[in-house]
Amino acid sequence: MSWSGYDDAGTQGPTGAAAAEPANSHWQEPPGAALGGMSRPKPEFPEPPPVDRHGPARVVALCNQKGGVGKTTTTINLGAALAEYGRRVLLVDFDPQGALSVGLGRRDPRELDLTIYNLLMQREVTIDKVLLHTEVEGLDLIPSNIDLSAAEVQMVGEVAREQMLSRALAPVLDDYDVVLIDCQPSLGLLTINALTAAHGVIVPLECEFFALRGVALLMDTIQKVKERLNEDLVIDGFLGTMYDPRTLHAREVLATIMEGFGDKVFHTVINRTVRFPDATVAGEPITRFDPSSGGARAYRELAKEVLARWPLGVRDA
Ligand SMILES: Nc1ncnc2c1ncn2[C@@H]1O[C@H](COP(=O)(O)OP(=O)(O)O)[C@@H](O)[C@H]1O
Ligand SMILES: [Mg+2]
Repeated sequence: MSWSGYDDAGTQGPTGAAAAEPANSHWQEPPGAALGGMSRPKPEFPEPPPVDRHGPARVVALCNQKGGVGKTTTTINLGAALAEYGRRVLLVDFDPQGALSVGLGRRDPRELDLTIYNLLMQREVTIDKVLLHTEVEGLDLIPSNIDLSAAEVQMVGEVAREQMLSRALAPVLDDYDVVLIDCQPSLGLLTINALTAAHGVIVPLECEFFALRGVALLMDTIQKVKERLNEDLVIDGFLGTMYDPRTLHAREVLATIMEGFGDKVFHTVINRTVRFPDATVAGEPITRFDPSSGGARAYRELAKEVLARWPLGVRDA
């Protein structure tokens, strides 16, 4: 089987062509038959071993200049799943919309006194003043709000403007195992800062028409940042999101993504389910809001997959 989608009926697996099958059936695909022969066997990802010390963090930017592809949802839920596995996780809201902050229960980010904006622009504001703990043990947040949109303009006049986020995060990297940066939907200076601060990039792709539109430009941007600012930057993976196992179309889109990016595509695929918007309204990760849901299990599986890919706490994995 190639795709480990999960649905809320508790079934695991790519139910793609099995749309007509009952939700709990175990549909088996002949090896290589689906996805134009690009089927991959899905490895069993090991339970992440517990850790007794933390850091240095691997910094990962969740990046796609298209909006609504699952960047914020993946940041919250991958972060929460990694924290469940005992990792110390810092989430950085790097979008002036503040959706990550809202999704973690900060109902009105405009009311926050200190955000990532103050950390970036005011030298006297240290990171400990901006950090917030969340209700999930081991999961911290640097929030954001609309103030950040002003930073993008103000940063242009700064020396080493692309490295501002990297410098701001440096003091706490030893305290965390993973830092996830939720980027805004653009390839502007904020996103360049995120890519400069990162060791890896995760690119969520919605399994819908035009999933790959704009991805070439994103790859180009990543390549430029690699050449000019951050030579160790790598793409950690492409993540299929909002996968609807009942449609042939979603299957075809995944096949196209596989064709383009091969082994860089995560085996784990996130199915489309209303539990994600529901969890956002509740201001909680799905792993807490509905711990046994397909969505929660999918993000736990993604956490296992990324931990299997990255040697823990190793910067240059
Ligand atoms: N797998 C999914 N199934 C259904 N809805 C989803 C899924 N992932 C995200 N969403 C919803 O889609 C919208 C956009 O997702 P979001 O994570 O905010 O995207 P982005 O950060 O890329 O703009 C949100 O309302 C979110 O709750
Ligand atoms: Mg977002």
